[in-house]
Amino acid sequence: MPSVVKDKMQIGHSAETIDHDMRTPSSNAPGLGEPAGQALPRPAPAGRVPAKNPDLAGSPLHVGIIMDGNGRWAAARGLPRIEGHRRGLEALRGTVRAAIEFNLAYLTVYSFSAENWSRPLEEVRDLMGLLKRFIRKDLIDLHKSGVRVKVIGHRANLQPDIRALLEEAETVTAANEGLNLVVAFNYGGRQEIAGAVREIARKFAQGEITETEITETLLSRHLDTAAIPDPDLIIRTSGEQRLSNFLLWQAAYSEFVFLPILWPDFDQAAFASALAEFAARERRFGGVSAPAAARTGS
Ligand code: FPP
Repeated sequence: MPSVVKDKMQIGHSAETIDHDMRTPSSNAPGLGEPAGQALPRPAPAGRVPAKNPDLAGSPLHVGIIMDGNGRWAAARGLPRIEGHRRGLEALRGTVRAAIEFNLAYLTVYSFSAENWSRPLEEVRDLMGLLKRFIRKDLIDLHKSGVRVKVIGHRANLQPDIRALLEEAETVTAANEGLNLVVAFNYGGRQEIAGAVREIARKFAQGEITETEITETLLSRHLDTAAIPDPDLIIRTSGEQRLSNFLLWQAAYSEFVFLPILWPDFDQAAFASALAEFAARERRFGGVSAPAAARTGS
């Protein structure tokens, strides 16, 4: 029996457990771009896919979310930052439920960046504790809801118990066919690309691939997101308007919606408003709009 399931049944463990050293001492190196893992269902190319939910014409297949503003939410209430993160976890739970309701195929959430290690140690510990809480407390429900969990980011330098939990979440839910929940944890887009390039260079040096085989497709296949379609829509809360190293390669043709609300306040209505804004956008992927194409007879 998976240990998370067993733990929950046996002891109703304390979800508050905080690590004292989140990383193995030997390494805090940036991501190495793990080789492609098990393939997730690969739909048709992003942007050309009819909504899975026929009621939501123009619905994105894959939404990425930069969950920003927990600290400001807490500060505005005179609360410690951890309280903002706790409320952020609640918002994440609601967001997963909403994504299932909206019948999205993929939801990627940026829960800890490769740069977040530079935060105060206590806050890093708190975030690690929240990740454990999320997996331990929610895995059974996610599994029952048909959610398939995939974690992207650099894992080798995480504490063994966290690595084991991440692997367990993936293994337990591997056969599910509902929402693909992609958790970006200890993730950085630049590190991911550098890791892919290193792996391709190694293959080239060993004669496994030729120079002409090094294409966009090949590079994509060496990213953590190898089997995941590019995000159609990226939402960022808190009013900040930047990517912060999130899905840099994959966001080449994503639409962006920046919401002025702080992450703990993000709810189903806010999610729906972002989807509505996406539905109103015209995506041209470097081409021209349909009427313009008709005018030029192309
Ligand atoms: C950014 O807000 C948020 C994070 C760095 C962490 C996001 C974490 C959660 C939503 C809670 C769930 C956590 C896990 C690990 C599943 P910020 O702290 O930068 O806010 P600020 O910009 O207002 O300071």
